[in-house]
Amino acid sequence: PEATRSSAPFNRPSTTLPQLRFPIQPLQRFQGASASIKRPREIAHFSYNEDHEYREDESSIQYYCEPCIGANLCDGFDTFNRYEEKEDPHLDSLLKTLASKEKREGVKVDADFVTWRGMMTRIMTAPFDMFASFEMFATLHQGTIYIEEDFQAKAAEIASDSRNPPNNRRNYPRYYNQNPSREMMTYWGYKFETLSLTPDTPASTSREFLENRQNTVVSNHAQHCSIVRTAFGSNTVILGGEVDGLWEPKPDPSKNPDAPIPWIELKTTELADPMTDRDILKYERKLLKFWAQSFLLGVAKVIVGFRSAQGILRSVEMYETNQIPGMVRRGTRCWDGNTCINFTTAFLGKLKEIVTEEGVYRISLRKKAGVIEVWKEKEEGTGGILSKEFLNWRARK
Ligand code: A3P
Ligand code: MG
Ligand code: MG
Repeated sequence: PEATRSSAPFNRPSTTLPQLRFPIQPLQRFQGASASIKRPREIAHFSYNEDHEYREDESSIQYYCEPCIGANLCDGFDTFNRYEEKEDPHLDSLLKTLASKEKREGVKVDADFVTWRGMMTRIMTAPFDMFASFEMFATLHQGTIYIEEDFQAKAAEIASDSRNPPNNRRNYPRYYNQNPSREMMTYWGYKFETLSLTPDTPASTSREFLENRQNTVVSNHAQHCSIVRTAFGSNTVILGGEVDGLWEPKPDPSKNPDAPIPWIELKTTELADPMTDRDILKYERKLLKFWAQSFLLGVAKVIVGFRSAQGILRSVEMYETNQIPGMVRRGTRCWDGNTCINFTTAFLGKLKEIVTEEGVYRISLRKKAGVIEVWKEKEEGTGGILSKEFLNWRARK
C-alpha cells in the first residue's frame, strides 16, 4: 500500500502552464502593519519516544536547565544515536492526532490549511532569502488544503549538495580536513539540546543528573510536537511542529485554559571573534529563521548557544521571540517580520483561489527564480498526502 502513496520523481512539465505565478518582488506590496494574526493556540500534541514511536501524550516533553559554558559540543559524536527519515513521513502523525481528537471530542477539526510548521517557515522566510527553494504538494479534501513537502525532491537536493562529503572530500581535501564535517555540525545542535534539557522539572532534577548530562548519549529519536490553530488574515491554519522544551511547567488548564504554553526553541550558532559587520549580517539573517520557526507555533523564547568554530560552547543568550523583529529593525534591517506575515497571508489567499478541485498540486520555488509557481500534477485523488487511516476516518458514515 505504501507504494501507491509515493509520488513519481519530479519532472517539470514543459507544456502545462502554471495556474499560479506568485512573484516575491516587489516587497513594497507587503509592507506596513501586519495582517491580523491570531496568537497560536495549542489544540493537540503528541510525542515520539526513544525509538521514534508515536505516542499520543506528553512523554517526551523536557525542561530547560542552563548548560555549562565551556562544554565541547563534539564530545560523544562517535556514539550519536541519529534518527534519519528513510521513508516519507507525509502528514501521518499530524493527521493521526487530529483524527483522534475528532473521535474523542466528536467535533470536526476544521481549517483552511493543515501542514507541518516547517512548510510554513519556508514560505514565510522566502521574501528575505535569495537562495530559498522548495517543492511541496497540496491537495484539497473536504474543504481543507493539506500541504506536505516533496520528500523525494528534498532527498535529491541533500544528495546533490556539494558541501556534503564525499564530494567535498574529493574536491577540497584541505578544506575538508581542516573543518568540522556537516555531520559534526548537525551533532552540535543536538548535543546542545542534551546539555540544556532535563526530562523532569529543574526543581525535581538531581544535581547528579545535571552533572552527568555531558555523558548522556545524544539521540534525536525522541521529540515532542505541538499542534496549534492560528490564522493569517482570514486564512485559518493548523500547524504541527517540534517544540524543544518548556521554560517552566505548563500552566494548569483548569485554572486558565487560555494561558500560553512556555515553550522554548534551542538554537546554536557560531560566535565569530571578533564580530565583523559581515558576521553580524549573517547572524541577523539567521535570526529570521529562528524567529519564523518559533513565531508560527507561538514559542515565546529562543535560547541561542554561541559556539566557537570548533564547537566549544562560549555563551548562552535568551531572546523573547516577539522582540527579535525589533532587534533586526534597529540593526541591519535585513528582514522585516510584518512583510513576512503579509506575504504569507497574500500567498495563502491566492492558494485558496487556485486549489479548488480534487487532485494534487505542486508548489514550487526554484533557487533564485523569484516566483512561486503552482500547477496541477494529478487530476484525481490526494496523492500520498493523506493517509488511508485518515481518509477512512473522514469517509465514515
Ligand atoms: P541547530 O539549529 O542548533 O543547528 P531545531 O533547531 O529545529 O530544533 O533542530 C535541532 C537541530 O537539528 C539543529 O540544531 C541541527 O543540528 C539539526 N538540524 C535541523 N535542521 C537541519 C537541517 N536542515 N540540516 C541539518 N541539520 C539540521
Ligand atoms: Mg527542535
Ligand atoms: Mg532547536
